Parts: sequence; structure tokens; C-alpha cells
Amino acid sequence: MKKLIFAFILGIVSYGVEIDPDTGLKISKGFEEVKNNCTVCHAASMFTSARGSREEWLASIRWMQETQGLWEFDPETENIILTYLETNYPQEVTSRRRPILSKDLLPPK
Ligand code: HEC
Repeated sequence: MKKLIFAFILGIVSYGVEIDPDTGLKISKGFEEVKNNCTVCHAASMFTSARGSREEWLASIRWMQETQGLWEFDPETENIILTYLETNYPQEVTSRRRPILSKDLLPPK
């Protein structure tokens, strides 16, 4: 029963996404790793507005490692960081609207 109550409270707490006041980052799994490694040289806003797929995030990281002096991560940390970024700042769906139908697909007048 105690477990159930705890799970219930946890559910309420995690329902709304909490934002870290210092960095503006969403607080969820991997937040600490991202805060410690990604807000050293620039503000988090540099990438919270960037959004991208996992591949795009990895490309940004590799680019910074090759040209901006970003350190190497051990595979586990890198995985945590990428999962955090891809989960919390995923590629934006540009438009949810379907394209306009061509005339021959419209119902007859
Ligand atoms: C060693 C310093 C350093 C660290 C640490 C660092 N960055 Fe950067 N990052 C830079 C610099 C320098 C730029 C370019 C700034 C500019 O264009 O004004 C940049 C730019 C970016 C960009 C924009 C360019 C692009 O590829 O879209 C993103 C996104 C980004 N960083 C994400 C991250 C993430 C995520 C982390 C943590 C894994 C991180 N950064 C950690 C130095 C760093």
C-alpha cells in the first residue's frame, strides 16, 4: 500500500515537467549529466532551442569535440546525454496540417 501511495505521488510530481531555474533545462533522467557537461561553455539556451534527432545531437557533439575543445565522454555518459536531448528536445514536427487536396480529390459540387 505504501508503495502505491508513493507511486501515486510520484505520478503527480512528474506530470508537469519541472524546469531547472539555473539553466532552463527540463529536469528528467540525464539532467545532471547535461547540466554538468553542456552548460560550461555556453548557456543551455544554445541547444534547448536547437532541437534535433539523436543523430543531429551526436553530430553537434562531435563537431564541438573536433573544433571547440569539448571533451570526450565515456560511452555510458554519452548515451545518457543523447537520450536526454532526444527525449526532451526532439526534432520539431514542422506542420501537423495535411497538404491541400488536389481538385480531383475534392467532393463534387
Ligand atoms: C568546451 C566548450 C563546449 C562545451 C562543453 C559544449 N559546447 Fe556546445 N558549443 C561550443 C561552442 C564554442 C559553440 C559555438 C558557439 C557559437 O556559434 O557562438 C557551440 C555550439 C553548440 C550548438 C549549436 C551548433 C550546432 O551544432 O547546432 C549546440 C546545439 C551545442 N553547442 C550543444 C552542446 C551540447 C548538447 C553540449 C553538451 C554535450 C555542449 N554543447 C557542450 C562549445 C561547447
